[in-house]
Amino acid sequence: MGDPGIRVEGISKVFGKTPAKALELVRSGMGKAELLEKTGHALGLHDINLTIGAGEIFVIMGLSGSGKSTLIRHFNRLIEPTAGRILVDGEDILRLDEPGLRNFRRRKIAMVFQRFGLLPHRNVLDNVMYGLLIDGVTRRKAEERAREQLALVGLAGFETRFPAQLSGGMQQRVGLARALATDAGILLMDEAFSALDPLIRHDMQLQLKALQAKLQKTIIFITHDLDEALLLGDHIAILKDGTVRQAGTGAEILTRPADDYVARFVHDVNRARILTCGQITDRAIRVDTPGSVDARAPIETAFAAFAQGEQAIAVVNGNGQPIGAITWQRVMQALAGR
Ligand SMILES: Nc1ncnc2c1ncn2[C@@H]1O[C@H](COP(=O)(O)OP(=O)(O)OP(=O)(O)O)[C@@H](O)[C@H]1O
Ligand SMILES: [Mg+2]
Repeated sequence: MGDPGIRVEGISKVFGKTPAKALELVRSGMGKAELLEKTGHALGLHDINLTIGAGEIFVIMGLSGSGKSTLIRHFNRLIEPTAGRILVDGEDILRLDEPGLRNFRRRKIAMVFQRFGLLPHRNVLDNVMYGLLIDGVTRRKAEERAREQLALVGLAGFETRFPAQLSGGMQQRVGLARALATDAGILLMDEAFSALDPLIRHDMQLQLKALQAKLQKTIIFITHDLDEALLLGDHIAILKDGTVRQAGTGAEILTRPADDYVARFVHDVNRARILTCGQITDRAIRVDTPGSVDARAPIETAFAAFAQGEQAIAVVNGNGQPIGAITWQRVMQALAGR
């Protein structure tokens, strides 16, 4: 096994009759709209380069048509690129032969679908076991694993229900349990929470984060919701017209947008909820007022203390040791996007 994680190197995808020729035109400067108009070819992705760390949640976000689904489908080769390569744990997955690919899809990568994709005439337990049985896992083992995963997503006791008897959020948790049951290290989630109503959706986001802290899978999560991206993503890539405009942590994207498009994109985000106290701490200041805030807490947790009239508030690390302070001015600068 080579480097753990996923590397996307120069992936381009053109849809149409002669994609390689069309890609040449793109490489010599033709834009997506012109390509479509002149040649009838759709530019799905152009020269995507990404590094996705093992065990992180990597969010791909962008507006409708930006290429998110096209990109995520490359990871399990539902789509073959026009150019470029993808390395998973150092292995070039485009070189896998048929049996190799089948094995890769079974053991290394699992997908959670937007509309749950459950079998309506099978109960919850059977839905989660189904793929395992097809894979040749014994019934006893499959059932044991399925029950474990259902318990993990909070659905113990619902094994004999049918999908139609469950709420949307519960159905999606079945979908998640099914993906987890495969034991694959990589989870692909294309708009997996988008069909849920807001409260349930937020609940699922928190649950996924909690699960991830335990399971340490590599999760590639697609959304067009910026709040969801910022909440979940260890790293986020912003796509526009098939290219990556910026990839980085949420804080990097908020505080140092790569271009005007990204800046406009993140303009309305509630920074007080996303940026942490640690990110705006002035390490040269020590204050000994009674209260303090945790460096990992969002800036908004300091608001109450500032409302009491404090000018600066001590910031402590995970061990409770002071590392500096945040001032009223720094808070304002952060909220103003500087
Ligand atoms: N099979 C295909 N044939 C031709 N064009 C395609 C095909 N699949 C995708 N495209 C084009 O590629 C571009 C990216 O589409 P994609 O579905 O990846 O976008 P998306 O970001 O997932 O959008 P959404 O948020 O609506 O799901 C679009 O311009 C789309 O029309
Ligand atoms: Mg899509």
